[in-house]
Amino acid sequence: MRIVLVGPPGAGKGTQAAFLAQNLSIPHISTGDLFRANISQGTDLGKQAKSYMDAGQLVPDEVTIGMAKDRMEQQDAVNGFLLDGFPRNVSQAEALDVALKADDVKLDAVLDLEVPEDEVVKRIAGRRICRNDSAHVFHVAYKQPKSEGVCDVCGGELYQRDDDKEETVRKRLEVYHTQTEPIIDYYREQGLVVTISALGKVEEVTARAMEALGR
Ligand code: AP5
Ligand code: MG
Repeated sequence: MRIVLVGPPGAGKGTQAAFLAQNLSIPHISTGDLFRANISQGTDLGKQAKSYMDAGQLVPDEVTIGMAKDRMEQQDAVNGFLLDGFPRNVSQAEALDVALKADDVKLDAVLDLEVPEDEVVKRIAGRRICRNDSAHVFHVAYKQPKSEGVCDVCGGELYQRDDDKEETVRKRLEVYHTQTEPIIDYYREQGLVVTISALGKVEEVTARAMEALGR
């Protein structure tokens, strides 16, 4: 399956993607995680991305689209993938369509996670992620690690993301409404959008998502 996950910052895209990717045996591709890995490795791409991310802005398409396409072309993604955080504006959605068409494949669904803004703010405020891999995500109240400050998956140190400061979160939400939400209409015209509520326990949301995907 080829799936796009959309939803505001803090909706639980990364959290759900981990389970959905496993259930569906497809790789989880998060452009945010790819950027953070580049930043921690000190690559040129990471240096280019960091100032935009810290400001809550989108990284320019010239950088993002190439990086996402490179990842989608890797061997593990030939038969499907779960995109998290890409596309994030209409021009990225158009570029994705062109790339898929060139491979003669199509998206199966766009899963839209709906969460009220006050809940998103609570989720982001308590989020802690792992220094080794930003896909290892915890929450101080909702998903506590077994040992405080330590990643359950790999033992890495947990910390608060640089862009999870209140002011930056406000900017990210604004960017989501103005630049990312329009892709939902773009995909609705293609009949691909399934919207679910992302409220409730993580496993309840996963079950809702699997049902919405017909699995
Ligand atoms: P990115 O990393 O994609 O951030 P985002 O979209 O803001 O989304 P988040 O990762 O903040 O939230 P999430 O929905 O994954 O929630 P999570 O599962 O962690 O992008 C970061 C930046 O990179 C962007 O601002 C931009 O600069 C750049 N970028 C990335 N892609 C780009 C692109 N395509 N183009 C241009 N720039 C790009 O959950 C949040 C918290 O809630 C966690 O603590 C979790 O434990 C908790 N939680 C999850 N589910 C539940 C639940 N059901 N109940 C209670 N708590 C829950
Ligand atoms: Mg995420």
